[in-house]
Amino acid sequence: MRRLFPSSRDDVASEVDPLDAYDEPRPAPRGRPWVTVDMVASVDGATAVDGRSGGLGGPADKAVFRALRAVPDVILVGAATARVERYGPVRLDPQVQARRVARGQAPLPRLALVSGRLDLDPTSAMFTDAAEPPLVLTTTSMAAGHAGRFAGRAELVACGDEQVDLATALAELGRRGASVVLAEGGPHLNGQLVAADLVDEWCQSVAPLLVAGGSARVAHGPEPERPTVLALHRVLEADGELFTTYRRRQ
Ligand SMILES: NC(=O)c1ccc[n+]([C@@H]2O[C@H](COP(=O)([O-])OP(=O)(O)OC[C@H]3O[C@@H](n4cnc5c(N)ncnc54)[C@H](OP(=O)(O)O)[C@@H]3O)[C@@H](O)[C@H]2O)c1
Repeated sequence: MRRLFPSSRDDVASEVDPLDAYDEPRPAPRGRPWVTVDMVASVDGATAVDGRSGGLGGPADKAVFRALRAVPDVILVGAATARVERYGPVRLDPQVQARRVARGQAPLPRLALVSGRLDLDPTSAMFTDAAEPPLVLTTTSMAAGHAGRFAGRAELVACGDEQVDLATALAELGRRGASVVLAEGGPHLNGQLVAADLVDEWCQSVAPLLVAGGSARVAHGPEPERPTVLALHRVLEADGELFTTYRRRQ
């Protein structure tokens, strides 16, 4: 994998290991954790092929996905993505876990699902094989009504009356010790994060494909009061796929 930006002094793209490239400080803003979003899309903006993202990225994309998973305290995901992509427990290589422990983190990030309906199976491996029971961020009534069904399998957290308020959800993650959160989509969850001005960093992989179809844009939903202004932070390349990172302009 080559780094295209920032370029090296001799203007020759340097080889990088994504694990090193994405391992950098992410200072939490006041009152909530730092939020990084990771998405892959085709050149023409598709976020799924046949309903899933797996057909978009190549091996380098999988390496970046894993490198980003090495970073956060919590991985945040919308329930639809967890269902469609058949999420399992988070796994990382032993040396990656050791690296996390050395910098004071838990060996594995904790999974946090956002769900209103709680159409999730507490007997699935995502819950039963997790090193730490996932958090399920839901509404007050659902958290109260379904605690028994998820007992010992997940921690249900009330984050709003009608729907999950994502600022409240992030504050709840912060109260549980998270200082970096990695959001893995999908587009509807991302759209709400953007609308609520809660995104600090956006890692966008651009897969060299034209897909067309009807999949949602990387962020889909209500328009924010104003766009979040970003600055280009890094561009990596491998096998014709671009791995861009943008950060909120300070
Ligand atoms: N290209 C990529 O990088 C990438 C990444 C991720 C996903 N995807 C693709 O995106 C698609 C799925 O994404 P999506 O946008 O349809 O769904 P999503 O954002 O993953 O999940 C939406 C679901 O999350 C829950 N939810 C979200 N916000 C909520 C709120 N404020 N309050 C309560 N519940 C809330 C609801 O779950 P309940 O229904 O349980 O109430 C809602 O149905 C799939 O095709 C997947 O393959 C692509």
